[in-house]
Amino acid sequence: MISIGSLNIKYPIIQGGMAIKVSMAKLAGAVAKEGGMGVIAGTSITTKKLREEIKKAKEIASGNGAIGVNIMFAVTNFFELVEAAIEAKVDFITFGAGFSRDIFDIGKKHNTPIIPIVSSVRLAKISERLGASAVVAEGSNAGGHLGTDLTSWDIIKGIKEAVKIPVFGAGGIVTPEDAKKMLDLGADGIQMGTRFVATEECEVDDKFKQMYIEAKEDDVVEIMSSAGLLANALKSPFVEKILNGNPDKPSECNNCLKKCTHKFCVNDRLVRGHSGDHEGGIMFAGKDVWKIDSILSVKEVFERFKPIFE
Ligand SMILES: Cc1cc2nc3c(=O)[nH]c(=O)nc-3n(C[C@H](O)[C@H](O)[C@H](O)COP(=O)(O)O)c2cc1C
Repeated sequence: MISIGSLNIKYPIIQGGMAIKVSMAKLAGAVAKEGGMGVIAGTSITTKKLREEIKKAKEIASGNGAIGVNIMFAVTNFFELVEAAIEAKVDFITFGAGFSRDIFDIGKKHNTPIIPIVSSVRLAKISERLGASAVVAEGSNAGGHLGTDLTSWDIIKGIKEAVKIPVFGAGGIVTPEDAKKMLDLGADGIQMGTRFVATEECEVDDKFKQMYIEAKEDDVVEIMSSAGLLANALKSPFVEKILNGNPDKPSECNNCLKKCTHKFCVNDRLVRGHSGDHEGGIMFAGKDVWKIDSILSVKEVFERFKPIFE
């Protein structure tokens, strides 16, 4: 049991928010139903869709756990999505890929816990001072965009010692042994992304999940995303193009990011990845994806991890 703001959570397991439409109501609701913290990715969906997904997730959770929304600070409509999530009575908000000071006042005003994703002691301390209810300490072994070149195992102790609020370790947690290692290093809880992609409830195409199952130890590489941040992704023909410096330029742009290199469209490529397009897509994944050998239900994931927290 862990308390975050006014929330009491049975299992301190956050299912990390995963754009683009990787973590939606079905996954987040199933995680909350098991007593964890499910997160809907708000990035790149409309405010209408976000409200619908929150409602759907809450129905699935049927009063258990908590439902949160994750929004990348890098997107142009960040605050619009934050307001929509709060109006829809989301239990908490996580955010990363940049840092907002203003979101903490919004959280306080509406009594909504704000949980930033940080990668340094400095940002963890600033977050606590501004009113964060907890922080996620995410390392360079995590899936998606990155904020450091140090792994989660390297940063967790320092961050835990620097703040009094709960700290969730993120990056490289795929097995219960990994979770135990993170707790032994001082974390109050864990956040997992990759493990939750390979679940029945995750809404990506089965081909995407199969790529996770087939991934070998060196198959995750760091790319420079058009959002101007490094990111961990599975090797694929399009990822090779990025690494070789000749990715296809976007044919159109809807200015979804505050800052974009315009070398390719990360949004469009993640959408293609979502639909299982190995050739043209980008599939974000954590460095330890190779440890995954089967698609499980969220319930089965919890059955495996629960003993660590009991
Ligand atoms: C497919 C995928 C998409 C992700 N998208 C986001 C995102 O939109 N916002 C975010 O804060 N983190 C994102 N992440 C990071 C996860 O929320 C989580 O912190 C990370 O996956 C933890 O590391 P792990 O993959 O080793 O478990 C993403 C991760 C994956 C695998």
